[in-house]
Amino acid sequence: MTRRDWQIENPGGSRRVVVTKELPGKRWLQLLTGADCRVEIAQGEDILTADEIRAACGEHVDAAIGQLTESWSAETLTALSSAGASIYSQYAVGYDNVDVAAATRLHLPVGNTPGVLTETTAQLAVALTFAAARRIAEGDRMMRAGAYHGWLPGMLLGSLLYRGTLGIVGAGRIGAAYARMMVEGHKMDLVYYDVRPNEELEAYIADYADFLVARGERPVTCRRAAALPELLGASDVVSIHAALTAESRHLIGAPELAAMKEEAVLVNASRGPLVDEAAFVAHCRAHPRFRAGLDVYENEPATAPGLAELDNVVLVPHLGSATTFTREGMATLAAANVAAILSDWPVWSAAAGLEDVRPFLEDETPPQAAPSIVNADDLGLRRYAAQAPTEEGRP
Ligand code: DGY
Repeated sequence: MTRRDWQIENPGGSRRVVVTKELPGKRWLQLLTGADCRVEIAQGEDILTADEIRAACGEHVDAAIGQLTESWSAETLTALSSAGASIYSQYAVGYDNVDVAAATRLHLPVGNTPGVLTETTAQLAVALTFAAARRIAEGDRMMRAGAYHGWLPGMLLGSLLYRGTLGIVGAGRIGAAYARMMVEGHKMDLVYYDVRPNEELEAYIADYADFLVARGERPVTCRRAAALPELLGASDVVSIHAALTAESRHLIGAPELAAMKEEAVLVNASRGPLVDEAAFVAHCRAHPRFRAGLDVYENEPATAPGLAELDNVVLVPHLGSATTFTREGMATLAAANVAAILSDWPVWSAAAGLEDVRPFLEDETPPQAAPSIVNADDLGLRRYAAQAPTEEGRP
């Protein structure tokens, strides 16, 4: 094992917090040092191994902030808990790399960072949708290769998605934000597939449909598909926004790809293993008019053999949340989760109408609460009591 360098902030702090990557922004560090934490930050870009994480926890640690690229298995969480930690805080909204059931058995809260990446990730999915449908990467490669010799009527023809049908798999926060951007911007009809109906999204689309009718335009429609094949067969674009679980692994495999339209666009900005990447490569090879935009991969950072050679696929390196606002905000939320649990504060509760995390990002004195603890209910953690809004709109 190579020796890793660690940057130490606030060396005199009485609580020890291990952070496995440098994080953007300053507010996160202020929150931790303000909570009397000595903060030890791993230097370098390579991913910490389980051995390195365990070594970093050492004999005593109060909390860890980790990355989606690391394996926070039962064994690693046990090492963290045995070293006295009160929380594992994930620098991401997704936590499929964390054994939350094991953390709960260890009475260890697991934090994550929802709310601050919704629009940013939805926007990246929109960018991938049109990069694929309008063949932006192919055009870029043509220009750079000096292969553009003048405008031609049949050159790099793509798909007009305007007034087409949009299928979203998973209508949670990010899926719904993406759906709104696509439906409002391009007047698409929406089909969504989710175990739960998203009534708020349905009402929003219904209001937009009324708006169009009032202007003398054809309304858009929205319906929840009873089964995935129904969505796949109907959609010009299929965008995946589901969480990765044992059940959703390879949700899109060879049969699902075969059920899609020949010229459909597939977008995945959630988690790579939701798509069977080998089957996807075979499908794209056999169907050159099928297009896709991928942000995530089955075995990141590796890609399946043949994927990088496909002209009909746009590839970006897991950039969904990569804006300065969001990455700094994620750092703030991850640190706020640690500071709150170490201070024995309650948990900010979407269930109590406290979905909005802006007070943690913007307020001079942020709420005395943990923004998001995924196993809060299972651990019986106290919920932050919502106060009546003032005239300015905030408690
Ligand atoms: C997350 O937070 O889960 C995202 O994948 C990071 O981009």
